[in-house]
Amino acid sequence: SDKTGTKNSVRRTLASGLQPEPDTDPSKTATDVPTIFVITPTYARHVQKAELTRMDIRTPRDDSIDSKTKTPLVTRFLKNCGVSYTHLNAPTPPDRRPEKYKSRHKVSRGVNQRNTGLRWLRQHANETKRGVVFFGDDDNTYDLQLFEEMRHTKTVSAWPVAFVGGVLVERPLLGEDGKVAKWSSVHKPERPYPMDMAAFAINLQLILDHPDAEFSYTVPPGYQESTILQKVQVPLHDLEIKADQGTKVLVWHTRSAPLELASEKKLKVHSNVNIEV
Ligand code: UGA
Ligand code: MN
Repeated sequence: SDKTGTKNSVRRTLASGLQPEPDTDPSKTATDVPTIFVITPTYARHVQKAELTRMDIRTPRDDSIDSKTKTPLVTRFLKNCGVSYTHLNAPTPPDRRPEKYKSRHKVSRGVNQRNTGLRWLRQHANETKRGVVFFGDDDNTYDLQLFEEMRHTKTVSAWPVAFVGGVLVERPLLGEDGKVAKWSSVHKPERPYPMDMAAFAINLQLILDHPDAEFSYTVPPGYQESTILQKVQVPLHDLEIKADQGTKVLVWHTRSAPLELASEKKLKVHSNVNIEV
């Protein structure tokens, strides 16, 4: 049983979404509270552990990693994070690897990884279990309130995202009826849903009802979000706007600056011998 106070008991209930703990207060069990499934593509690089740490791991997550094998760093990281998780891995096809492209705007990232997470959900998520699916990249900055905003998503919920598409914030503009009149963005505004991946969450049942809802390497760069949102068939106009009717920023599309490792290259013995960075 939980003896550590309300805050912790709520968190534990959320964290145990996939396997409700039988000994928690029945009025607070995971069956009443929709589970948030966060699908996070991640890949090995120097800043990986820093990004995962900043992402605030207290949210339940279904983790999908880009590699041929599960990397020990991520395995250890998840083991210590204290929430329910599934660690999957999926490779990126050789001709889609970002390092093969001169500009990061020329190739889609995380496609196979997110699809692997979706496949896992379709195999394991119980149809009677209420839930919501969010694609939380490893390099964004999340306010924990964002997860409470998305938790009761009926179809597709959405909210502003800062530092994306070359502007300070992309956000929904609401009409007099309180519904989405336009999604304000400057980058490829002609997209059916000109939004970032971190701007929306999809009800689990909708994902299960549309088995073809997934990501694709064959659509133009920037169209991943539109691809899955078109498949679940909720018009932009009907998105459920959260975060005080789209007036609050709860997620920032931060990216790490490239590391400066000129001195590391001069070392005969590298600085990270016997220490995980
Ligand atoms: C923007 C959006 O924020 C992404 O959600 C979207 O996937 C991407 O554009 C796109 O359209 O492909 P951006 O910040 O430019 O993303 O991309 P990254 O953060 O570099 O990559 C997105 C996710 O894929 C990250 O979680 C990253 O760790 C992962 N990734 C990246 C891999 O799993 N493998 C890779 O080789 C590269
Ligand atoms: Mn990113």
